[in-house]
Amino acid sequence: MSVAAAHPLLRAATPAGWIARACESPDVLLIDHANCEKKAASTALALMFAYAEDLELADKMSRLAREELRHFEQVAELIRKLGVVPRRLAPGRYAERLRRLVARSEPRREVDLMICGAFIEARSCERFAALSPAIGGELGELFRGLHAAEARHFKVYLDLARRAAARARVDLPGRIDEFASLEADLILGRDELFRFHSGDPSGSA
Ligand SMILES: [Fe+2]
Ligand SMILES: [Fe+2]
Repeated sequence: MSVAAAHPLLRAATPAGWIARACESPDVLLIDHANCEKKAASTALALMFAYAEDLELADKMSRLAREELRHFEQVAELIRKLGVVPRRLAPGRYAERLRRLVARSEPRREVDLMICGAFIEARSCERFAALSPAIGGELGELFRGLHAAEARHFKVYLDLARRAAARARVDLPGRIDEFASLEADLILGRDELFRFHSGDPSGSA
């Protein structure tokens, strides 16, 4: 079951089944969340290399990468404090499946990469808001603090998507719609592997 998402970019709210699973698995949640922060920083750096001639993008991505690494440090501190044992976790399907929709050639590729970034940040934002009151305690506090940052990050990517789409003459709302539909399927569809961006553990296949 899902209700309308509280986030303007998203079509589906995080299912109650995912929130229940997150509250039961704080260790996996924190370890995967630490990975997401590292990945967010490394994606921002990769975009600086991919679009090296673009100083506006470089400036925005450099700030974003630094902020994501600070988030990683906050999550790592809580991991230590709570005595969670770090371990290697295979990534979930979410980012990889969104990336499959990204065009292979420019100029469409840049538009898609920015849309992709906007969705990942928007979902993180929505998930922090849904999770912090449910999970409470120190995790709840951490997620409440990170929520505002992710709300800014989705706008950074959306602004870059608008700019790239105008240059490439791409129909941005139409392309956002295509990503929104895939993103909602990944969130509402059944997902065996619990991760920060995973689908519904009790959903239908
Ligand atoms: Fe972050
Ligand atoms: Fe972020």
